[in-house]
Amino acid sequence: MRRKRLVILGATGSIGASTLRVIAAHPDLFEVVGLAAGRDTAKLRELAARFNVRNLALADSDDPTIPHGKQALCDLAAHPDADLTVMAIAGMAGYEPTLAAIEAGHDVALATKEVLVMAGEEVMRRRAAKGVRILPLDSEHSALFQALQGEAYRPACVRTADEPAAEARVAEAILTASGGPFLRRKELDWKRVTVAEALNHPRWRMGPKVTIDSATMMNKGLELIEAIHLFNLRPDQLRVWIHPQSIVHSLVRFRDGALLAQLGVADMALPIQYALTWPDRAADAPVEPLSLAQMQGLEFIEPDLSRFPCLHLVFEALPQGTWTHPILTLANEVAVRAFLAGRITADRIAAVIEEALAAGPAPFDAILRQAEASVDRFAAS
Ligand SMILES: NC(=O)c1ccc[n+]([C@@H]2O[C@H](COP(=O)([O-])OP(=O)(O)OC[C@H]3O[C@@H](n4cnc5c(N)ncnc54)[C@H](OP(=O)(O)O)[C@@H]3O)[C@@H](O)[C@H]2O)c1
Repeated sequence: MRRKRLVILGATGSIGASTLRVIAAHPDLFEVVGLAAGRDTAKLRELAARFNVRNLALADSDDPTIPHGKQALCDLAAHPDADLTVMAIAGMAGYEPTLAAIEAGHDVALATKEVLVMAGEEVMRRRAAKGVRILPLDSEHSALFQALQGEAYRPACVRTADEPAAEARVAEAILTASGGPFLRRKELDWKRVTVAEALNHPRWRMGPKVTIDSATMMNKGLELIEAIHLFNLRPDQLRVWIHPQSIVHSLVRFRDGALLAQLGVADMALPIQYALTWPDRAADAPVEPLSLAQMQGLEFIEPDLSRFPCLHLVFEALPQGTWTHPILTLANEVAVRAFLAGRITADRIAAVIEEALAAGPAPFDAILRQAEASVDRFAAS
C-alpha cells in the first residue's frame, strides 16, 4: 500500500511534535512531504533534516532560502504532492492555509480549533463542496468522532451528501474538561492569577495560547463551537463536565440511551494517529496503553460557571447564533496575547470578550480592532 503523504503546518509546536512522533513510529504508513512553522527557522531546518523534507515554509523569516509569508504557507498547505494536510498552527493564522488545503482537494487533520470557531460554516460548506474530510485532532473531538462512527450513519465532517446523519441519533455530546490548574483553588480571584500559574497545566503539555485557554476554560467554550461545526450539533445538545483525570476524552449519549465514550492516556499521539489512519486503525501506537488499574476513582464534576466567566460567556452566547463564534475566538485571542505579554490581568480576558459580544455582529477586522481597543483601555487603567 502507498504511504500517506503529509504536509504539517505548525510542525515546530506541541501538536507538530506529537504528529512527528506518530509518523516516526510508522515509517511504513506515512511520508512527510512538507513542513511549516511561524518563525523558528533553526527548528524547522532540524526537523526537515531528520524527516528528509525539502518543501518548507515559514510565516516570517530572515532566511531567503525558505519561502515565507501567508502565500508560502497556503502553497505548502495545498502542495500537490500531499494527500493530507495537518493543520496545527496556533490561532487564527491557520485559517487561510486551511482553506487553501481544502481548495486543493486535501483532507485536513485539524488541530487549530480557531479555524472552525472563526468560520466553521464556510469551512464545512467548502469541504462538502470539494468532497474532502475534516478529521478532528483535538482529543475531545476525536473521542466524539470515534463514538459517532456508526455502521449505519456517519459524522458530518466526513460524510457525503447521500449518507445518513449520525447527529440525528444524538441526544447529547458531553465534552470532558480537565478543569485546568485552578479547579480546586479555594479563593479564585482572576485579578491575581499570574501568567506562570496559568501556564502550569496539571495534565497536558501544550503551547502557551491553548494552555491559558485551558486555565480560563475558554478552551472548552471554543471546543463546543468546534463540535457544533464538525458534527452539525445544536448548542442545546452540548454539555461540559469536568473530569480531572483526563482519561475519558468525551462521550456521546444516543437517543436510545446508550452512552459511548473513548478512553485513553492523556497523550495527543493517540487522537492524532487516529486522524492520520482513519478510517483504519494502526496495529500499534507510540503511547502506553491505558490500564484498567489507572481507572480507579474517576471523577465527573459539573462546572461552576461563576468561577469560569469565559465559559459562562460562551454558554450565554451560543443560543444567540453563529455570529457570536468569531467574536468569541478573535476577542479571546487578542486578550490572551495581551495577558501573556503582561499587558492586562487575567480577569480582563473575560471583560474583553464581553465587550466584543456587546458590540454585536461585525466583520473579523472590526472585531479585532474593538478587542484591541478594549485591551488598550484596560492596560492603561
Ligand atoms: N497542544 C495540544 O495538546 C493541543 C490540543 C488540542 C488542540 N490544540 C490546538 O492546536 C493548535 C496548535 O497548538 P500547539 O499547542 O501545538 O501550539 P504551539 O506549541 O504554540 O505551536 C504552534 C505552532 O504554530 C506555529 N505558528 C505560530 N504562529 C504562526 C503563524 N502566524 N503562521 C504559521 N505558523 C505559526 C509555531 O511556529 P514557531 O515555533 O515557529 O513559532 C508552531 O509550529 C492550537 O490551535 C491549539 O488550540 C492543541
